[in-house]
Amino acid sequence: MEENVIAMPRIGDKAPEFKAVTTQGKINFPGDYKGSWVIFFSHPADFTPVCTSEFMTFATLEEKFERANCKLVGLSVDGLYSHIAWLRTIKEKIEFKGMKNVEVKFPLIEDITMEISKKYGMIQPGESSTKAVRAVFFIDPKGIIRTIIYYPLSLGRNFEELYRVLIALQTADEFEVATPADWQPGDEVIVPPAGSCGVAKERVEGNEKDIKCYDWFFCTKKLDKETIFKKILKN
Ligand code: BEZ
Repeated sequence: MEENVIAMPRIGDKAPEFKAVTTQGKINFPGDYKGSWVIFFSHPADFTPVCTSEFMTFATLEEKFERANCKLVGLSVDGLYSHIAWLRTIKEKIEFKGMKNVEVKFPLIEDITMEISKKYGMIQPGESSTKAVRAVFFIDPKGIIRTIIYYPLSLGRNFEELYRVLIALQTADEFEVATPADWQPGDEVIVPPAGSCGVAKERVEGNEKDIKCYDWFFCTKKLDKETIFKKILKN
């Protein structure tokens, strides 16, 4: 087996710990974020177009994520002064899709040594050995990794999808349900599977109130958007 191989973090693992220098000062991760959800994401390089479009979009949506108790933390293998210069350029010069004068207020980690990006499996040599891929880690308030999504260098992320994932994870936790394909808040949700033959029978016979079954193992119920957002969003 090759020396120095670092196992990539997986869903359900504790988020690997690190201390870092960022554009908002030093952070201790994930300890400083206890009690909040965190989207920890990497981007390939400062002063590149796809990354610039992504940072402008994320910064514009930051308040929306904050209302869902979610903080944003970015990383690339560039240094701090490059990060600062790039974020200043974005604010002062770039206008894109109606976004302008965009200030990136969330921390952007410098990782010139690649220590953190390697720890999180963000360096994927088949794609690039000198740049991080576009990784997205959803970390819950207890510091557990709940979802991981990777995109290649050429593909900008869909931030509405990242928000949908965050709300779906919180909905699953708060209401003890699962969410079906293409779920959006307000759509029917999946109830936990029948735990006994008796419950399975009750369900297919339509005797369980407010539950609709497509078969004994596939049952849903209504969960309206207002109920979800009332529980999840801060005022
Ligand atoms: C970009 O963000 O535009 C980009 C970064 C690295 C490689 C290719 C594109």
